[in-house]
Amino acid sequence: MANVVVVGAQWGDEGKGKIVDWLSERADIIARFQGGHNAGHTLVINNQVYKLNALPSGVVRGGKLSVIGNGVVLDPWHLVNEIAKIREQGVDISPETLMIAENTPLILPIHGELDRAREEAASKGTKIGTTGRGIGPAYEDKVGRRSIRVADLADEATLEARVDRALQHHDPLRKGLGIEPVDRERLLNDLKAIAKEILPYAGPVWKVLNEQRKAGKRILFEGAQGALLDIDFGTYPFVTSSNVIAGQAATGVGIGPTSIDYVLGIVKAYTTRVGEGPFPTELLDEDGNRLGTRGHEFGTVTGRKRRCGWFDAALVRQTCATSGVTGIAFTKLDVLDGFETLKICVGYELDGEVLDYLPFAAEDQARCTPVYEEMPGWSESTEGARSWNDLPANAVKYVKRVEELIDCPVALLSTSPERDDTILVTDPFAD
Ligand code: GDP
Ligand code: IMO
Ligand code: MG
Repeated sequence: MANVVVVGAQWGDEGKGKIVDWLSERADIIARFQGGHNAGHTLVINNQVYKLNALPSGVVRGGKLSVIGNGVVLDPWHLVNEIAKIREQGVDISPETLMIAENTPLILPIHGELDRAREEAASKGTKIGTTGRGIGPAYEDKVGRRSIRVADLADEATLEARVDRALQHHDPLRKGLGIEPVDRERLLNDLKAIAKEILPYAGPVWKVLNEQRKAGKRILFEGAQGALLDIDFGTYPFVTSSNVIAGQAATGVGIGPTSIDYVLGIVKAYTTRVGEGPFPTELLDEDGNRLGTRGHEFGTVTGRKRRCGWFDAALVRQTCATSGVTGIAFTKLDVLDGFETLKICVGYELDGEVLDYLPFAAEDQARCTPVYEEMPGWSESTEGARSWNDLPANAVKYVKRVEELIDCPVALLSTSPERDDTILVTDPFAD
């Protein structure tokens, strides 16, 4: 297959970064198509740890083209710092290896301020638990047709006009929240200064990707977040502000949906969520603590403790359907080592009926109780396993049952944070 989309199939942090890095060996181009630096992707290669937010996880391989597509919202100051940090780790990043779409909307400091002010002002029940990085306000400006985009950085008159347009909206909004008006001159000067560092990477991503695709190059589309945080199909309003599901890969870079050959859903062997919102299989007991401790479940971006729970097959079946997932990468199986019994949610009971999906109405969601199936665990270690034959029989049974319940085959299996502790079942890039 020529072009593969990678998407998170739960609430993010499924291990997308590790899998994208692993798969990038087979790709020529790695393209981010949504989200921003709310993403936190950890890669471990020969014990060296790389933490990425805005950069595609393919950068570490070297010799590939990394792309930031128009579906992303980009904080240019954060990107410049991230590039500097990753370069210090010996990774080569230059305009030859990184391209940013000219039509990418920028995240400005005022977006972060607005995001954080709203969260602070929110009462219990309305707080979203955002990463505070300005993602929501930046996407609001995009849809509101008042974004400053990468291409606008090239011309001072355009930039001034765009800033004025944005401030016309933001100053009254800030006043209502008790924040002082924007310092226009300072914002303009900061933008002019960062423009010099960003513009060398700017280019017509849609054109380059279409040309490269026609030339037979392989594109790996890297999703951030997870389908349950999708603005349409997630647990709204406790979601992020972009489409996360696989269809976004096409609009987020400017290629047609016919160019996507394979969708790889990244699925963690249990469930985590960071931030507020419904989580039917959440565990507030010793089992939940154990998952969090064994899985090192702390957010990369905010350091927050991730909420942990049993695997929810009903939700993953739903997300595999909305993204048209061809196969999954099943990650963090090793974290389940040593549990005597494992539970899998197979549906929800609501008013005496069993549903095989989670309804959208908040009031229904609150009354849904998970229906569990139990499976025996395993006492042996799966950590670092690199072949099916190394897996204990009960671990294989667990994986097989998950495949049945979500109606999707396992293509890859991950057994530790290390790049090479990965079992290949079906190569998503194979013809
Ligand atoms: P992403 O946001 O989907 O890229 O995931 P994160 O990087 O935020 O979180 C996944 C964490 O689990 C990272 O610290 C990875 O290094 C780690 N990880 C990935 N795969 C595995 C695995 O199979 N086993 C274990 N134990 N850790 C893993
Ligand atoms: P990766 O790519 C997990 C969550 C936040 C919050 C909600 C909205 O590492 O999987 P936002 O700042 O986007 O407006 O926050 O979305 N969230 C993530 N949770 N992994 C992520 O990214 C996330 N990006 C955003 O915690 O609940
Ligand atoms: Mg993450």
